[in-house]
Amino acid sequence: MKHLLSINDLSREDILELVSLAESLKLDRKFSNDLKNKNIILLFEKPSLRTRVSFEVAIAELNGKYYHLEGQAAGIGKREAVKDIAKVLSRYVQACIIRTFKQADILEFSQYASIPVINALTDLEHPCQILSDLLTIKGKINRLSEFKIAFIGDGNNVSHSLIQAAAILGFDLSIATPSGYEPKDEILIPALKKAEQTNAKINVSNNVQDAVKNADFIYTDVWTSMGQEKEKHLRKQIFKDFQINEQLLSSLSRKCYIMHCLPAHRGEEITDKAVDSEHSIVIDQAENRLHMHKAILIKLFS
Ligand code: CP
Ligand code: NVA
Repeated sequence: MKHLLSINDLSREDILELVSLAESLKLDRKFSNDLKNKNIILLFEKPSLRTRVSFEVAIAELNGKYYHLEGQAAGIGKREAVKDIAKVLSRYVQACIIRTFKQADILEFSQYASIPVINALTDLEHPCQILSDLLTIKGKINRLSEFKIAFIGDGNNVSHSLIQAAAILGFDLSIATPSGYEPKDEILIPALKKAEQTNAKINVSNNVQDAVKNADFIYTDVWTSMGQEKEKHLRKQIFKDFQINEQLLSSLSRKCYIMHCLPAHRGEEITDKAVDSEHSIVIDQAENRLHMHKAILIKLFS
């Protein structure tokens, strides 16, 4: 593992190893020297609570140091060429954790960086989120196979990384989005091909009731992602039937865990009652970001 830019950078074995390492770090939370003498940049062009703080705490607990570049401070591809930033930062620090808009910028950055690069979210993918969610799922059902997730909402970065994980691990994933908001073909088509070998059942439709049938987990995310704010009002109209609410939950024939990567837009993609319900595991998901990020950092430097 040289960088973590995409779930697709990982094999099934890599994922299982990361989850197992994160489980042991969670069980025995302590300070260690795994990142001693390591300086790490967090270059975040979008807001963040969980990803930023959990990476900061992870680095601190591993005895490394972190530095921030926020907003347009570095000006990826604007003030300066991506490759120049990558080459310069490689001379100063030992790793770079980046949240930005274009996946292509992170890919280019990693090609010119001589240090590990971690994708902390792009418009296209959110791999650290889904790795942490696998830790959460394993914590609830004690396995990472033979389960079904229904993802309701936008075919966005979180859904994309989920699709890639399903294809690699071979679990069932049903996605329901409004028409025109399905996951991107560049993610879906290779995943469906991979799924032929792993027996993953990946299904995309515009029907919420079909998607949630026999699901063990129902996952949602915001209708309007960071960077799409101009579409907010239109999306509120288009997505209104793609909400996790009491009516949907009471229609289920079995107990189902409720997942959300957070931040939640309460009253939009999920109601207060659903996000606060006893079946909601959203705070476990947030906690597990920390343990998984420690595991990712340790593995990248091992
Ligand atoms: N889920 C997640 O990535 O949260 P932040 O945007 O707060 O980091
Ligand atoms: N899809 C959301 C995820 C936030 C963690 C966004 O990109 O804004």
